[in-house]
Amino acid sequence: MKAAIIDQYGPASELHVAEVPKPEPDTHEVLIRVHATCVNPFETHQRSGDMKAMMSGDFPKILGADVAGVVEAVGLMITDFQPGDRVMASLGMSGGAYAEYAVAKETSLVKLPDAISFEQAAAMPVAAGTALQAMRDKGHLRPRDRVLINGAAGGVGHYAVQLAKIMGATVTAVCGPDAVAMVKELGADRVINYHEIDFTKEAETYDVVFDAVAKSSFEACQPILTKTGTYVTTRPSAEGMLDKVKTLFADQKATFILFSFTQTDMNWMLKHAAEGRLKAVIEHTYRLDELPQAHAASEAGHVKGKLVVVVE
Ligand SMILES: NC(=O)c1ccc[n+]([C@@H]2O[C@H](COP(=O)([O-])OP(=O)(O)OC[C@H]3O[C@@H](n4cnc5c(N)ncnc54)[C@H](OP(=O)(O)O)[C@@H]3O)[C@@H](O)[C@H]2O)c1
Repeated sequence: MKAAIIDQYGPASELHVAEVPKPEPDTHEVLIRVHATCVNPFETHQRSGDMKAMMSGDFPKILGADVAGVVEAVGLMITDFQPGDRVMASLGMSGGAYAEYAVAKETSLVKLPDAISFEQAAAMPVAAGTALQAMRDKGHLRPRDRVLINGAAGGVGHYAVQLAKIMGATVTAVCGPDAVAMVKELGADRVINYHEIDFTKEAETYDVVFDAVAKSSFEACQPILTKTGTYVTTRPSAEGMLDKVKTLFADQKATFILFSFTQTDMNWMLKHAAEGRLKAVIEHTYRLDELPQAHAASEAGHVKGKLVVVVE
């Protein structure tokens, strides 16, 4: 099969298409014919070597977490999926999605409703799942709460705006000037252009500040949290861990999210997507051989919505 591989860590140009062995599903795995995948920022860090301490030393590597496609074959113990099923999966940090075929654990995939395209599905697992789990599980967002989402135009942020509205919150979204119309269209009640306004200096307070793009800090956001407000960041750093520990017994909390795939969350989001309340804004679609361009675009840091890769 064809896959976009790297033979060593390095710049985006290290990604190239090569012929590699087709993977085989183990007893609790499913082989998927990949129709679409997407780029998540952590994959660019994996490619560059920034995350090599957390990766195996084997090369070539096939990166890519999110997959949408059709089940080609199933392992011995699989009863819930069969060849021909349209599915969405997340392969996590171990990757394998930038390829014509990928294997996923049975617990890491769900069936797709007919109304959802492969491109829409491929954009969703990591970005939308992170947004949902950050606000619901870490921010404890409730109906009628006020939430501020920083980085509202990005992969995580643009899902967060829509999910916060589904959860019944009042949403203030922070993005650059080019994305104001897009973020309003996604349902934000108020949009702040961060080129003009420093949201941390405003008088308005929020029950949850979700720093989807991890460009602010708990310290900067503390004045705009309500007395019992929570700051959630997508960056699991040493500083973030310290803030979390320091606020364990305080009224205002600081915490961070580490996404983990659950079938319940994915099925819930797919239901809302099928009913028209949740969508991926897809800035650009690439082919497998255009992954160097897709990684370079992600690294430039100005993606609006998601970058999707269609595998033919
Ligand atoms: N912990 C986890 O489990 C987890 C999971 C997924 C993602 N993440 C992390 O979450 C972060 C966001 O991911 P993503 O996929 O959303 O990234 P992304 O799509 O690459 O984010 C790009 C967006 O960020 C905006 N942006 C950049 N600087 C900004 C600023 N100072 N204020 C407001 N917006 C700004 C850009 O808008 P402009 O062009 O207007 O600047 C652009 O629209 C990444 O660091 C990623 O690694 C963590």
